[in-house]
Amino acid sequence: MLAGSHDPLVREFMQGVFPHTDREAAVRWIEDVVPRLWDQDRAAYFAVTVGDGPSVGWAELVDFRPDEGVAEAAIWLLPGARRMRVAAAALRLVCRFGFEQLGLRRIDAYAAADNMPVQVVGAYIGFRRAGFRPDLFRSSRTHTLHDAVYATLVPEDLC
Ligand SMILES: CC(C)(COP(=O)(O)OP(=O)(O)OC[C@H]1O[C@@H](n2cnc3c(N)ncnc32)[C@H](O)[C@@H]1OP(=O)(O)O)[C@@H](O)C(=O)NCCC(=O)NCCS
Repeated sequence: MLAGSHDPLVREFMQGVFPHTDREAAVRWIEDVVPRLWDQDRAAYFAVTVGDGPSVGWAELVDFRPDEGVAEAAIWLLPGARRMRVAAAALRLVCRFGFEQLGLRRIDAYAAADNMPVQVVGAYIGFRRAGFRPDLFRSSRTHTLHDAVYATLVPEDLC
């Protein structure tokens, strides 16, 4: 998480990523914020691992709206783990968890319009494009606004 919060691509394409100053700050965030948001039914965070190896990324279901059965998914990988179909496998697992364990009926995702890899990953596992939102989010790296593609996944489309 410390490395990811400093990665230029993660910072470009995800909003609200604050670079942790050191390992202790990242551990504090994981130990304080993650369980608190889970207890409040607001978010579930996951470390992405390959086999028994160390964590190579982060995936999340955030912005839970339990009444509507909806949450929003996002993922990032460290550079060494990219381009190996890890993201599709991890995102599929996270969405399965959302549908089967949390009872979600829909998972939303917002990708920067110029972030093709994550759109391809989403399409692989069944997300369908549902809209376009101009200037939706601000890059954590450059603070410029990105247009976003909005996509949704329902349980029967997960593949
Ligand atoms: C998004 C992310 C998790 C994707 O992970 P990944 O497994 O490395 O994905 P890849 O780079 O392999 O790309 C996935 C697919 O998109 C394709 N792709 C990549 N760039 C592309 C482009 N410009 N146009 C079309 N397809 C493209 C790849 O060829 C790949 O398909 P393939 O496996 O059939 O070859 C990773 O790039 C990442 O961590 N990015 C930074 C953070 C981020 O953007 N997160 C998403 C925010 S919602």
